[in-house]
Amino acid sequence: MNTMIEKVNKNRIDMQVIQRAGEIIRQGGLVAFPTETVYGLGANALDEEAAKKTYAAKGRPSDNPLIVHIAEYEALKEIAVDVPESAVALARRFWPGPLTMIFKKAEKVPYGTTGGLDTVAVRMPSDGIARELILASGGYVSAPSANTSGRPSPTKAEHVEEDLSGKIDMILDGGSVEIGLESTVLDMTVEPPVILRPGAITAGMLEKVVGMVGIDETILGPESEKAPKAPGMKYRHYAPNAKLTIVEGNIREEVLAIRQLVYDAVNNGKKTGIIATDETIHYYSKGIIKNVGSREDERTIAKNLFAVLREFDGEGVDEIYSESFAMRGIGNAIMNRLDKAAGHLRIPAVEIVRRQRYRRIVFVSQSDTCRGPMAAEILRQRHLRQEYVIDSRGIIVLFPEPINPKAEAVMRSNGMSLGEYKSIPFSETEVADDILVLTMDEAQKNKILAEYEEAVSIYTVNEFVGEDEEVLNPYGKPLNVYGLCYENISKLMDKLTEKLNSYVEGEG
Ligand code: TXA
Ligand code: MG
Repeated sequence: MNTMIEKVNKNRIDMQVIQRAGEIIRQGGLVAFPTETVYGLGANALDEEAAKKTYAAKGRPSDNPLIVHIAEYEALKEIAVDVPESAVALARRFWPGPLTMIFKKAEKVPYGTTGGLDTVAVRMPSDGIARELILASGGYVSAPSANTSGRPSPTKAEHVEEDLSGKIDMILDGGSVEIGLESTVLDMTVEPPVILRPGAITAGMLEKVVGMVGIDETILGPESEKAPKAPGMKYRHYAPNAKLTIVEGNIREEVLAIRQLVYDAVNNGKKTGIIATDETIHYYSKGIIKNVGSREDERTIAKNLFAVLREFDGEGVDEIYSESFAMRGIGNAIMNRLDKAAGHLRIPAVEIVRRQRYRRIVFVSQSDTCRGPMAAEILRQRHLRQEYVIDSRGIIVLFPEPINPKAEAVMRSNGMSLGEYKSIPFSETEVADDILVLTMDEAQKNKILAEYEEAVSIYTVNEFVGEDEEVLNPYGKPLNVYGLCYENISKLMDKLTEKLNSYVEGEG
């Protein structure tokens, strides 16, 4: 099948295109169209055969009911029975908009559309193109999200094209959607009404109109044994191809844990993605980093989430790590979708951060022109399971001096270089709980301890790794002694690597 793609300007809707699209739906065909939430795959809701085509195009199980989209309130009475007063009030407040309500179905709604249920889901979208299309199609348009079953819902016409090109008659391209997450689904057949799927219209907003609403417990995670009431919620939804893990904690912990997880994954040769935010993105350096939006305005995150998941798929990423979001307002809907995309895989950030006894390692020598910089560079070349900032500093540095030429010669003969490094004096910025300070000898350690009372993690290198001999001082000696010093430091760095790596494994 050749799928026609028609651009439609929201502000100047071309009614000829809409009439053609409406005609396709009346004739039993399929047209994808924008709504304010996500793109929908439209068909005639009163036509059993059209429903079958919809399921086939999406590759969706046919026991998963479709939402019937209407454009006028009067249409509700034709397809739903026993509509309670509270629903009238909710419709008055939230329609047109991202709220779907479930009622007992009227006779004329075929079981094909409702997935065999005696209830029908109804929604009146606010998007102008959606509204005109519904009217042009006869007033009742069934529309699931216009993605292949199991992929993230489409928030742009290009996403629909990716999934359904060749399988449907037409795509109306109205640009990017406004909200980006599917509508709130509210079961009105029970009292009080129950949220089956969280969306942009939150429990708090609904409660202002109808008093209390319940929340289906299956929304919140895997712990519930009950089958979800919205059949669609039982399928692994919105799933990216990559393994997605949600990292939970406060923002600082999340960033530190994700940095560590990505460091590991990249070292293991995995193509790794990060879902970051405006507020945190500059803390990451490794991996494929994507900005999902601003924590200041979580609507931006809702809007970008599915597109970001699709982008990762397009780039063939193996693993994705995501920060988590507060469970308030639209945050509930964001976390619900993220959690499903992750197949409920969540890990507490503290579990990872707790193992990070140190985050920075500073080697201290007399002048920071030889042993300290050598140790730092040798350690950087080791396979550390944790990402550390590794530096060197000097006890007496009056002005920045270049590396000792003999030290550089030895480093070069071992395939490394200290290049243009210039010495830096030790200062109070090197004194903190999570900084490991390692001196070349006891005198340097005592000098720092004397100056900074709060110098907490300071050891001589040999002491820290359990060796008696201090690092050899080659100063003023021939080149071969510098070579011995290199060997000496190199052995100590082997032991240091082992000790540091034992923390990551949780054995330290
Ligand atoms: O925002 C939206 O709702 C989008 C746009 C296109 O309007 N549509 C959408 O449809 O997300 P779909 O089919 O992808 O998701 C509909 C959800 C499914 O989880 C389905 O199981 C549930 O609503 N649902 C539909 N009819 C139902 C019913 N009678 N009882 C319980 N759940 C129902
Ligand atoms: Mg869907």
